[in-house]
Amino acid sequence: MSIFAKMTIPIYMKKTLLLCIAAIALLACSKKEPQQFSVIPMPNQVTLEKGSLSVKGIAVDVDPNMDQLSAKAVGRFISALETASGTACKDGEDGLRFKLNPALAPEQYTISIGKDGADIQASTLNGFVYARETLKQMLPAAIYGGQKAKADWVLPFAQIDDSPRFAYRGMHLDACRHFWSVEETKRYLDVMTAYKQNRFHWHLTEDQGWRVEIKKYPLLTEIGAWRNGTMIGKDFSSNDGIRYGGFYTQEQMREIVAYAAERGITVIPEIDLPGHMVAALSAYPELGCSGGPYEVWTRWGVDSRILCAGNENVFTFLEDVLSEIMDIFPSEYIHIGGDECFNDEACPWDSCPKCIARMRSLGIKQGPDAKHYLQNYVTARVQDFLNSKGRKIIGWDEVLQGNLTKGATVMSWRGVQGGIEAASKGFDAIMTPNSFCYFDHYQGMERDKEPLAIGGYLPLEKVYSYEPFKGIPASDQKHILGVQANLWTEYIAAEKHLEYMLMPRLCALSEVQWCQVPNKDYTRFDKSLDHTFKILDAMDFFYSLDCRGMVGLDRKPARDAAEMADYLEKNKTDW
Ligand code: ACM
Ligand code: ZN
Repeated sequence: MSIFAKMTIPIYMKKTLLLCIAAIALLACSKKEPQQFSVIPMPNQVTLEKGSLSVKGIAVDVDPNMDQLSAKAVGRFISALETASGTACKDGEDGLRFKLNPALAPEQYTISIGKDGADIQASTLNGFVYARETLKQMLPAAIYGGQKAKADWVLPFAQIDDSPRFAYRGMHLDACRHFWSVEETKRYLDVMTAYKQNRFHWHLTEDQGWRVEIKKYPLLTEIGAWRNGTMIGKDFSSNDGIRYGGFYTQEQMREIVAYAAERGITVIPEIDLPGHMVAALSAYPELGCSGGPYEVWTRWGVDSRILCAGNENVFTFLEDVLSEIMDIFPSEYIHIGGDECFNDEACPWDSCPKCIARMRSLGIKQGPDAKHYLQNYVTARVQDFLNSKGRKIIGWDEVLQGNLTKGATVMSWRGVQGGIEAASKGFDAIMTPNSFCYFDHYQGMERDKEPLAIGGYLPLEKVYSYEPFKGIPASDQKHILGVQANLWTEYIAAEKHLEYMLMPRLCALSEVQWCQVPNKDYTRFDKSLDHTFKILDAMDFFYSLDCRGMVGLDRKPARDAAEMADYLEKNKTDW
């Protein structure tokens, strides 16, 4: 039976009533409206039963065999419950029982809530984090608020057995075009945690700013982290004249890695190479084909100035940088970018004596594909180096052009084609197609009411509709590790705007990443968002209300249908 059939079972909440209320009044009061089960992403298997468990001041028992981080994850739930309900929990076995169950899969958890209390089981930190997040969403949203709140602190009786569809459930953040503080980044991780994501792809280097402290190359942050102004809106000839920048110290990055790890999230750093390197070149111009001078870029776009592929010092530089990166980030994967190395202008590699010599020595024939083969060479050398240290590379789908070396993982962003091709050639792939997963696109149609976006139109429902296996033959599907959305920040400078672009699209993404296909249902998801909006309010996290007919940062009412048709006719878009 589908879980949705089960979802229709009404829930009668048991509420503690004043002892002096008469029996007739008691009967009347116990017959409450059925409670909507509003957990996002919808768990795999849920059976709701009649009755509820009061958790205010409940007894808690935590398995002594649990590892420290799992116990801490459980502890966070208990203290949030204590704060929000205003009542301390006690030790004891007749309430919430958190138990290690090695028989469960690594990200699986089970929850069984009945009159004798609740059994919550998992085999790993991630399982306990996801159990905790499900329990939190089953409780009043005030549990996210960090303050005492008057509410019915009850959990409905339920049987839940849950585990994700995809192992890789990512969210990306561009910290280069605009810089996000450690605190802002932690808030980003907080909502990722709430919606059971487990990979944070941190885009840390760009033409417009180098954001990571590298001790061996101090100029990367002394010079490369700062730009002399930013273009204004979409005017590519403008510059606001305001010096802009920032970077993360190694200590701060370690803090983020640890913060994420406690929440079951692996941070995957991206050092984008050999393109998108103008900020690094401004600090070390000798690493470019022309020798510079270069200046940290103040415009958006794809620059033709890239690392010289014929200069051995470039590889020494990359290995040094990546060694410090590996020291900070324990992730198995290091993202090495590889996107947009070449624009429509002449490629400097075609006229650089060192690059030409390198192509000759590699036997690369002159021609339009030569640069792709040279990029392959750069990718392969970096891949060899990282592999020799026990790490693996992820590259944007351009790395497929030419000959990609075995063992690389491809991130499909120019639509789904890169993922389809990668999987057919035996490479693992992560799907981040710009048609469904680019959260820098407009989410409302009324661009004049929306905050600035790069373009496109990606409403919530379209994110939700994404099916990652579409177009992938069954025999290749094992190569699709998962799904990620990307949030590029050229046109996003303020935290409220960042949050608006992220939410609630991240929630839709979470169901693409987590739910088995039969468990997806946009109508149910849309209803559950009412609870999500309360959660986000309690977290003081901003979000779009486009799906409720309110558009823009100041949430103006959307146009009526006739006005909208007229508006769309007059504002036909190129995306
Ligand atoms: C990308 O959007 N340039 C990967
Ligand atoms: Zn060169």
